[in-house]
Amino acid sequence: MSDVEAQKEAAGIAACEVVKTGMNVGLGTGSTVKYTVIELGRRIAEEGLEIIGVPTSIATEKLALEVGIPLADLGDLEGLDVVIDGTDEFDGDFQLIKGGGGALLREKIVAQASASMIVVADGRKKVNTLGEFPLPIEITPFSWVETKRQLSILFATEGFIGDITLRRKKELGTVSCDGVEFPANEKGGVFVTDNGNVILDCHFGASIVDPIGLETAILSKAGVAQVGLFNNMCDAVYLADPAGVQILRKN
Ligand code: 5RP
Repeated sequence: MSDVEAQKEAAGIAACEVVKTGMNVGLGTGSTVKYTVIELGRRIAEEGLEIIGVPTSIATEKLALEVGIPLADLGDLEGLDVVIDGTDEFDGDFQLIKGGGGALLREKIVAQASASMIVVADGRKKVNTLGEFPLPIEITPFSWVETKRQLSILFATEGFIGDITLRRKKELGTVSCDGVEFPANEKGGVFVTDNGNVILDCHFGASIVDPIGLETAILSKAGVAQVGLFNNMCDAVYLADPAGVQILRKN
């Protein structure tokens, strides 16, 4: 499986083995877990699997409904048995960077409500030290420049060096968000999350040796809605590489 797309599909489908009839299942967001959602829909249609899903984004909600997964609001359930989600990076302690798809806030809410978190990933996602993938921070549009300034000061104090960029989507056009007008630039219009927030991507390089301390520090800033560090949440990774899918379990 040298092809990355084939690895994503293999990992996404393999992880479905943890899902049994009667479970409440968190449905992650992204191009890997998409295969999980499709496979669960197939098992519902062809094998009589009975589950209730909770999507972590509007995109996943749409896909889940298309493939026939019954959905519920988290608040109407007594917790989740498992969430299956993708990741942008994971390290040897199973700490994650997520949010490349912009769904980090809902993904973390769903993960915290779940008894277990299973991650699906292709071979590129395993790292020694987190941070080569830019760390996403979801912030409120209100006074976002001030929040960015506060975060810059925090990072300088903690010894992190690197650009902090407002995430943009490719399409041009302005976005009005919570009274703030975001103009397009040559990189496009501003990316707005399902929650009406914006995202800062922090380009630190592979230097996050204390992800728990960094998460705590970032969350102390009032304008921060969530940070894409998922610490002590992941129980196992279904990792696909050219040799096949291996299951890495946290001890
Ligand atoms: C979305 C996420 C995704 O799970 C993460 O970006 C991985 O996505 P992909 O499987 O497409 O690489 O965190 O917010």
